[in-house]
Amino acid sequence: MAKPLDQIVTDRLVLRPWRWEDRAPMARMNADPEVCRHLPAPLNREESDALVDRIEAHWRKYGFGPWVVTKREAAFDPGGETGPRTGPMIGFVGLLVPRFSAPFTPCVEIGWRLNPAHWGQGLATEAAAAVLAEDAFAHHGFEEVVAFTVPDNMASRRVMEKLGMTRTPADDFFHPLLALDDPSAPHVLYRMKRR
Ligand SMILES: CC(C)(COP(=O)(O)OP(=O)(O)OC[C@H]1O[C@@H](n2cnc3c(N)ncnc32)[C@H](O)[C@@H]1OP(=O)(O)O)[C@@H](O)C(=O)NCCC(=O)NCCS
Repeated sequence: MAKPLDQIVTDRLVLRPWRWEDRAPMARMNADPEVCRHLPAPLNREESDALVDRIEAHWRKYGFGPWVVTKREAAFDPGGETGPRTGPMIGFVGLLVPRFSAPFTPCVEIGWRLNPAHWGQGLATEAAAAVLAEDAFAHHGFEEVVAFTVPDNMASRRVMEKLGMTRTPADDFFHPLLALDDPSAPHVLYRMKRR
């Protein structure tokens, strides 16, 4: 297992490991019905904390996982010994190994979730582009990363497209952890190969 990167810095963001204080903003985000419109359901505090526990366990097991996304503050010190100053957690973006079996597994997936106050500014795409380039392809040397969502999640699909990921309709699948007649079962799959 490769040693995890310490952090990822982009023009506007710092992606960093999880801290205890991230759990409250994470829970607020996960309780928002708009955030969870295309996910199974909003989460209560206990469920959100359990998700953070699973994310931290994923990091320990694989040496990669979803990063906490924070905004760089305007007055950051690029050459400072402590690195750029950042604001509170605004969401998460990062790599995951799916826990189910499908025609495209085993694989590495990229996922994202941001607080709606920060939507529509290209931040998910900026964070994901850095995760793909620096974490997935350069650091871990993965040959391919996939992303998937329900067909109606146009914001998420648009992020995939802006990243340069491509969809082949033959890859579309029914999510194996959902009942076949669940309206959320059909998923579209996008792929990106290492360049
Ligand atoms: C998906 C998500 C992370 C995108 O975050 P974001 O920072 O707003 O993403 P970006 O700004 O980088 O890009 C979003 C793109 O989707 C477009 N978009 C948003 N809503 C859309 C809609 N209903 N229909 C079509 N396009 C839409 C935006 O216009 C933008 O494209 P553009 O730059 O070409 O204008 C955010 O919407 C989110 O957290 N959603 C809830 C959680 C979720 O569904 N996660 C994905 C699970 S698979």
